[in-house]
Amino acid sequence: MTLSRRVKIVEVGPRDGLQNEKQTVPTEIKLELIERLADAGLNTIEATAFVSPKWVPQMADSADVMKQLKRRDGVTYPVLVPNEKGLDAALSAGAKEIAVFGAASEAFSQKNINCSIAESLARFKPVVDAAKSAGVAVRGYVSCALGCPYQGKVASAAVSDVAWALYEMGCYEISLGDTIGVGTPGATREMLEAVARRVPLKKLAGHYHDTYGMAIANIYASMELGVAVFDASVAGLGGCPYAAGASGNVATEDIVWLMQGLGIDTGIDLDRLAATGAWISAQLGRETNSKVARALSAVKASGA
Ligand code: HMG
Ligand code: MG
Repeated sequence: MTLSRRVKIVEVGPRDGLQNEKQTVPTEIKLELIERLADAGLNTIEATAFVSPKWVPQMADSADVMKQLKRRDGVTYPVLVPNEKGLDAALSAGAKEIAVFGAASEAFSQKNINCSIAESLARFKPVVDAAKSAGVAVRGYVSCALGCPYQGKVASAAVSDVAWALYEMGCYEISLGDTIGVGTPGATREMLEAVARRVPLKKLAGHYHDTYGMAIANIYASMELGVAVFDASVAGLGGCPYAAGASGNVATEDIVWLMQGLGIDTGIDLDRLAATGAWISAQLGRETNSKVARALSAVKASGA
């Protein structure tokens, strides 16, 4: 067993967490969320998405978010980009890192970005080339790595093909998305082993939604293989607008608790993070989805 000893957490709350909100979240709240996450010690914060506002209205203020955020040394603020139009807008707004997002399922690719997998890869190539020429790093996502809301099972070979295509194109890291959170540790392991036959393990990240409560188990299974980068969303916010029933990402607070238990320093202050989760949940008028945050707050309230 090669349990990862250093782990990087990519906070995706401001993007994946908020993209599915029905109520319009004001730009100032998004900016304050990003600030608070940086205060809590997150150093990679996916800030927004330069996608069509007709498809995802909540991300319509992406240029404002990027132009107004107070950039800090040592913190990166990647953004999603689906095409050249998105790239141009992201670069104009000062983005220094982007992510292209494909899928291992044809049906999901059509629903999410309105094209086939092959068309998406052809569309990403000039985006990746242009971003890299502009000195902008590119991450790649593969959705439906453990199941698809439209077609059900997804073969690991399909995940591996798309992961490899993105890696070969020049993505520095491939984030494997369990978009609907159906994965379990055995399936996660099998999928990662298939992908790692072509893409080095140290270039892979786990992006696990927690719909069925399996995300932490899947993270641990991934760590046993040596994966050391995980995406998470404060308070477990979120879901994908094109994946019916998909709930939020694994809560950042829950991963930090896991890492503390394993003696792995993430550089994140759990109390400040939980306070941020409580704050954004209150802004959205709901309870946090983080079990750890709920427990910590109950302990605090009891005065124990
Ligand atoms: P399309 O309709 O095929 O695109 O959408 P189009 O090129 O025909 O353009 C249609 C209209 O959109 C035009 O405007 C374009 O200008 C505009 P109109 O002439 O009708 O006024 N447009 C844009 N506007 C702003 N920014 C752009 C842009 N591109 C076109 N970049 C498209 C194709 C890809 C644009 C669309 O399907 C789209 O935006 N999809 C994004 C969906 C999305 O954001 N999904 C959620 C993120 S993925 C996710 O959550 C999964 C992940 O978390 C991993 C996991 O969990 O699995 C990453
Ligand atoms: Mg996601």
